[in-house]
Parts: sequence; C-alpha cells; structure tokens
Amino acid sequence: MLKPFVQLLGSDMPVLRRYVWLAVVYGLLSGLTLVTLVPVLSRLLVGDVRAAAPWLLLTQAGMLACWACRRRVERAGVAVGVSLLQGARQRIGDHVTRLPLGWFNADNTSRLGHLISQGMMAVAQLPAHVFTPVISGAVTPLVIIVALFFLHGTMGLIALLALPILAAGLLLTARLGRHADQAFQGHFADASQRMVEFAQAQSVLRAFNGEGGGTALLKQAIDRQRQAGTRLIYQTSLSVVLNAWLVQAIFAALLIAAALWLNVHLDSTLEAGSVVAVIVALILASRYIDSLLDVASYAEILRNAYGQLEAVQRLFAVQPLVEPDQPQAPRDGSIELRQVSLRHGPDQPEVLRDISLQIAPGSLTALIGASGSGKTTLLRLVARFFEASQGSVRVGGVDVRQMSSAQLAGQISQIFQGSYLFQGSIADNIRIGKPEASDAEVLDAAQQAGVGELILRLPQGLQTAVGEGGAQLSGGERQRIAIARALIKDAPILLVDEATAALDAENQLIIAQTLARLRGRRTLLVIAHQLSTVSMADQILVLEEGQLVEQGPPAVLRASGGRYAHYLEQRQAAKGWRIAAASHSEAH
Ligand SMILES: Nc1ncnc2c1ncn2[C@@H]1O[C@H](COP(=O)(O)OP(=O)(O)OP(=O)(O)O)[C@@H](O)[C@H]1O
Ligand SMILES: [Mg+2]
Repeated sequence: MLKPFVQLLGSDMPVLRRYVWLAVVYGLLSGLTLVTLVPVLSRLLVGDVRAAAPWLLLTQAGMLACWACRRRVERAGVAVGVSLLQGARQRIGDHVTRLPLGWFNADNTSRLGHLISQGMMAVAQLPAHVFTPVISGAVTPLVIIVALFFLHGTMGLIALLALPILAAGLLLTARLGRHADQAFQGHFADASQRMVEFAQAQSVLRAFNGEGGGTALLKQAIDRQRQAGTRLIYQTSLSVVLNAWLVQAIFAALLIAAALWLNVHLDSTLEAGSVVAVIVALILASRYIDSLLDVASYAEILRNAYGQLEAVQRLFAVQPLVEPDQPQAPRDGSIELRQVSLRHGPDQPEVLRDISLQIAPGSLTALIGASGSGKTTLLRLVARFFEASQGSVRVGGVDVRQMSSAQLAGQISQIFQGSYLFQGSIADNIRIGKPEASDAEVLDAAQQAGVGELILRLPQGLQTAVGEGGAQLSGGERQRIAIARALIKDAPILLVDEATAALDAENQLIIAQTLARLRGRRTLLVIAHQLSTVSMADQILVLEEGQLVEQGPPAVLRASGGRYAHYLEQRQAAKGWRIAAASHSEAH
C-alpha cells in the first residue's frame, strides 16, 4: 500500500511522514491516557478520593493533550490529502505525457479519467478520515496490552495473541473481497462505457433495431454490473460480520479470563483490591476492543482504496519513452526502417514483421495493403507512437530513440484519422501546428486546406469557436481544419493516414491537391486510397499481413505483374472510369 503512495507523493513525502508520526503519537497518548484510569479507578473504587485526585488531574491533562494532538493530526491528514490531490495529479500528468502515444487507446484513456477523478478523491480522503482511526486504533491497544500484563498476565497474553489473529483475519477477508471488488469495478467501467456508446449511437441503433431496440447490449452490461454489485455487497457484509465476530470472540476470551480470575478469588477470601483490579482490567479490555473494532470497521474502505492505489501502480509501471542523454538532431527528411518488427505485448502476435525500407527526403511514398495489414501501425511507428520490438526506425538519418521527443515531433507533421479539435477558435486549432504563426499564415493554411469558404461564411471568421470536440462543424470540415494544422507546421515529413470512409469527394480533392503542392518539398508518406495518389508516387510499398511484400516505383511494379499489378487490375475492374484517368495522369 505504501509504494504507490510514495510514488504519488514524490517530493511531498515528508508531509505524509509527519502525519504518520503525529498519528502514532496520538495513538500512544490516547493509550497512556486510558491507562491513567487504572490508578484513578483503583483508588476511587476503594473510596480513596484524595489519592485518586492527582491521577485524575493527570487523566485530564492527558485528555487535553489528546485533543490538541488530534487536531494537529487532522490538519496534517488534510495536508496529505491536499498534496495528493495537487501533486499526485501533476505527477500522474507528468508520467502520462511521457508515455508512448500508442498507449492512449479508448480503454486506457477512460480508465485514466476514472483514476484522476474518482480514484484520486478516494485516495486523498484516506489520511484525514480513515488512516487516523486506523493508526491510533492499532497503536492504542499496544499500550493497553502492556497495562493489562501488569494487571493480569493471562489477559495481557490473550490481548497480545489476539493481534496477529485479528490481523490474519482482516487480511483474509480483504483478499476475499478484492476479487469481488475488481469484478465490480470492471463491470462498472464497462457499463459506463456502454451507456455513453448507447447515447452516441442512438441513430444507428434505432435504424437497425427499431424503436427501443439496441438496448440489449446495454442491458447485458447493466445486468452484469448488478450481479457483480450484489456479490460485492454480499462479500462486504460477510467480511464485516466476520471481522466483527472475530473481535467479539477476542472480547469473549478476555471476559472468560476475567471470570476465571475472579473465580479463583471467590474460592478464597474475596479481597476488595482484586475485585477492583478485575473491574479495571475489564474496562481496559473493553477500550482495547473498541480500538480494534475501529480498525475492523475501516477495513472495507481501505480495501477499496487499495484497488485505486493498485491502478496507480499499474499506470506508473507503464514504461515512458526514454529521452536520450545526448539527443541528436535529425539531418534531413528521410525515413528508414531497418528490420523492424512490432508486437503490442509480449504474448501478442507480430503486427509488423521484419520490415526494411528507405524513403528519400522530398519523395512521395504510397503505402497500400488490405485492411488490417498494418499500414496505420507502420505510420505510427515512424511517429514513435510505439517502440519497435526489434530493429530500428530512423528519421533524418538518426534512430528515433536517439532524438528527444521534441526533435522528432518537430520533424513530422501528420494528418491522421479522427483528428481531434480542441475547444477554442478555428485559428487556435490551426495554430497548434505553429504557435507563432501570424493571422495571415493561419488564413493561408486554412485556404489551402479548403476551409477558406467556411471561414467566410462564419460571422466571426477564424475566431469562431469550434465548440466541445468541434461538435458544431461537420466531419469533413473538422478534417480540413486538421489538414490546415498539419500544413502550417513546417516539418520536413508529412504522414497521411486517411480511412476511405472518412473521405468525401471534396476532402479527397483537398488531400490530392495538398500532396501535389507539397510534392518534392516535403517527404510524403501516405496511406493511399486514391489511384491518383498511388500513381503519382515515387515509391509504392505493399503491405500484407504485417510484411512488406513489394516495394518500388509504380511503373516497375506494374510491369513486374506482382501484387501491385493485381491491385491495379482489381481497381480497374471496380472503377474502370477512374483508372482511365489515373493511367492517363501516370503517363505524364
Ligand atoms: N493497440 C493495438 N493493440 C493490439 N493490436 C493492434 C493495436 N492496433 C492495431 N492492432 C492490430 O494490428 C493490425 C494492423 O492494424 P492497422 O490499424 O495497422 O491496420 P491497417 O492496415 O491500417 O488497416 P485499415 O486499412 O483498416 O486502417 C490489426 O490486426 C489490428 O487488429
Ligand atoms: Mg489504418
């Protein structure tokens, strides 16, 4: 439990240390104050008020000290919570910004959101509300045990032996509950995701399932969540009952010991002193049990927070990209892959296999291949979304691992699918590509990307806000703003990944014009869906199941009658009229 806490707190660790110390001192002080009741009660029960008075004063002083200490503990606990909320979010943020971009899939991002919001709140509340009673609940009994030993050896021994037994019991129920908790969290996240999906995909669901249809998947997810929730409640109540029962059993053992002790005296002459000792011991035992009950009652909350801390630990375990000590600047706009293989995890299949290729600066390379053949993955590998499992990726003649992230980012601009627009104006969104760009440059890029007309139509022009996620713009318009962003960034390499589905005729034209304009000026690596692009290319790469099966200039590949020639034939059969135009342009 401590390790993720240390990771989260980082340099704020002394705040936690101070708090824990204060909590331990508070626990000791509470225990000692309780123990002062022994002489107080012993004297009062035999009617000696005068002798009890100084001890009573001590008890009161102890209570005052406890009260003052408790206030400080609470303040220290709040300080830890605040550090956690402020510093830890920052630390998670720092870590996440260094993770490879490939990490940010839908699953990981939604979990990250959950962790930063609910998870961190649950963890931050621990010191102020849970740790204090748990720490003092564990320390106070230790002092009481010592006192019990003095009063009655057997009771002291029982109390001492009870501690490891109780600890084992708590650990056992925590372990049992953890499975139920994990299952519930998993189903909970799943159901939330389905709920969002369900709302977003209403039009599709209704079209295919009719009114009220499309609820089946959501219902299943909610059912699973409900079942997991029921199991968790069942498990939790079982744990609570079991823990409380264990504590009561310890209390019973102490009572029996006290009763036997009294019995021994009953057989002989009953002395006032020993009866008083038994009563005092029983009172101590009950305080001892109260503390243990405190610990037991917080076990469930601790277990839940532990789950969140584990999520933190998993997040910190993801390897960030390693920044080189002496970064080397890329020399030109070339790209080279040397025997590159990639798998997404140790037990996953190779998505790319032994790929070697060279792309000259300023050339246009078209990447083609069936769906799932690895085209997007190859492009992302160049932009270092992932680390190659084997081989090396070189950009500008330098291994990407020898460059700083900033150097690589400065070398590459990209037009990928589903390019995201941020809240802000159209100008802000385009300027991400070049923060220092003047308004004229922004407008120029916008016009090149075909958003000129749109901007003229909008009353506030370039300053129009694009709304949350760019929701007020059409998909095509959003894509074009993303193109403008890529164009304004004056990077030597442009990577283009366009899914066919995302392309309307106008956007196709814009991409084609963009490529034609930039040709020779930038290194263009394009996942090509249009024959015009393919035929314009200096080099064609054909991917098949993660392997590069053909590469070379279009004319050579066409003549060789291999995969590319076959691809052309297929296209010709499907869209004869377009191939005529393409062959025509290729002839030029
Ligand atoms: N993050 C990931 N984890 C595991 N496997 C992945 C991941 N991303 C992609 N894959 C797998 O890698 C293979 C190649 O995917 P990729 O997206 O590169 O194909 P593609 O050629 O771009 O296909 P398309 O033309 O449909 O876009 C697919 O089998 C895909 O399921
Ligand atoms: Mg793809």
